[in-house]
Amino acid sequence: MLLDEVLAALAPSAAFRPRTYVDGTLGAGGHASAMLGLHGPRALRLLVGVDVDATALALAGPRLVAAAAAEARRAEPQQQQQPDVGGSPSAGPISPTAIRLLRGNHADVERLLAGVPWPEAELGPHPALAAADRSSSTTTTTTTTTKNAATLLGGVDAMLLDLGVSSMQIDDPGRGFSFMRDGPLDMRMGRAEDGDANGAGAGAGADAASSQPTLTAADIVNTWSEAALAELIRDYGEEKMWRRVAARIVRAREEKGPLLTTSQLTAAIGRTALRSSSGASRSGGGSRSSEIHPATRTFQALRIAVNDELGGLGRAIPAAIAALAPGGRLAVISFHSLEDRVVKHAMLRAAGKPTPDDELAMAQALGGASSSSATAADRDAWRLGREAAAVGRVLTRRPVLPGEAEVARNPRARSAKLRVFEKFGGGGGGGGGADGEEEAAARDGGGGKKATHRSKKWRRLEEEEGEEGGAA
Ligand SMILES: C[S@@+](CC[C@H](N)C(=O)[O-])C[C@H]1O[C@@H](n2cnc3c(N)ncnc32)[C@H](O)[C@@H]1O
Repeated sequence: MLLDEVLAALAPSAAFRPRTYVDGTLGAGGHASAMLGLHGPRALRLLVGVDVDATALALAGPRLVAAAAAEARRAEPQQQQQPDVGGSPSAGPISPTAIRLLRGNHADVERLLAGVPWPEAELGPHPALAAADRSSSTTTTTTTTTKNAATLLGGVDAMLLDLGVSSMQIDDPGRGFSFMRDGPLDMRMGRAEDGDANGAGAGAGADAASSQPTLTAADIVNTWSEAALAELIRDYGEEKMWRRVAARIVRAREEKGPLLTTSQLTAAIGRTALRSSSGASRSGGGSRSSEIHPATRTFQALRIAVNDELGGLGRAIPAAIAALAPGGRLAVISFHSLEDRVVKHAMLRAAGKPTPDDELAMAQALGGASSSSATAADRDAWRLGREAAAVGRVLTRRPVLPGEAEVARNPRARSAKLRVFEKFGGGGGGGGGADGEEEAAARDGGGGKKATHRSKKWRRLEEEEGEEGGAA
């Protein structure tokens, strides 16, 4: 989803040459494979795939290893034809991009990446150390940087979070995500009983499945009070008929016993909440009318609660930004307004910009229940402190939306939004690696031309959106 737009945001350019890439929602590896193809093995040296779902890792691992090997084979004839900078022909085969898989929650991305050694022999000194040297910083910064310098933490050039559930998960009735398929009311994205990803064949060190949810959708539906269910369906489902849906669920479980399958829940909800949603398409192209299934919003609410999606996302964005190297980019695709709000606010905060939650944050920081007692000077000082603590900028003033063609091809894409953040401190990126844009342009099959075209498209997008990341 939004593949071209993600590739445009992460395309190589003179100022951005990713050598390390983390896909925090690997899924079937579609975006990750495209990143391998876009950057090629001489530029992209390490790809880390993270997913809570062992099934996704087991499927994507071998695919990525094969794709990386194919890219290396493709790059080799090019290498033999092209003299390197010194004028002598490059020697030896090109080793494929290293693939590493980690099973875990991207909310724990700092801990996960702290377990991945920084490949110093291949990539040279850790970028955070180099940046600390450049800015001859304080003892605290140097200590932190030195501590992290042995690992990938602080050395990630590009990261993607493509949030939500995958088609693979939706289409598997055994996972219980879809009201269209009968199956157990489960909805856990990662299940502790699925084991780890060591079978993925990618030389992967699988992370212990430490933070897998144990709560299932059936637990919620059958044990929560009517009031708690109603609140959940209102807040996470944004369902207007929240009271009625909760009442129906409770009545069904009282009359017929526990609801254990997706079809039992769908039948309990009945046709109560059926409504027509219409309006201008997100891609801005005219209006579109579509009926959503009455169970859609309740299923969404349960999935969010089972997987603590919003809580996890609130931790994941700052953690992902902390893991970036100077000049690194984080791209996030969200699928509903609740997710997008968390992404937008977290990025704005990291960019030192105001967010609608500032009043509360200011009140907490200034030590009062309400910031109304704070003087104007206190408030200004707080805002200046926020600005001074900025670690980067939001590249997408407004979110990037899928084009009409993608929405026509895949209606699920209609609510997708892409936002991109860039950490300060890039100075040409990479260092030591081949020039990504030149390499991409040099590769056969037009891939390079595509990369250059994408990078131009993205630069245009940046110009249109403006450099400031204001609240959208
Ligand atoms: C929309 S799919 C990603 C598809 C992928 N970009 C591709 O091209 O194939 C989302 C994936 O993220 C995983 N996921 C969801 N929440 C996660 C979390 N908190 N931490 C890690 N993985 C997560 C899901 O298991 C799923 O495989």
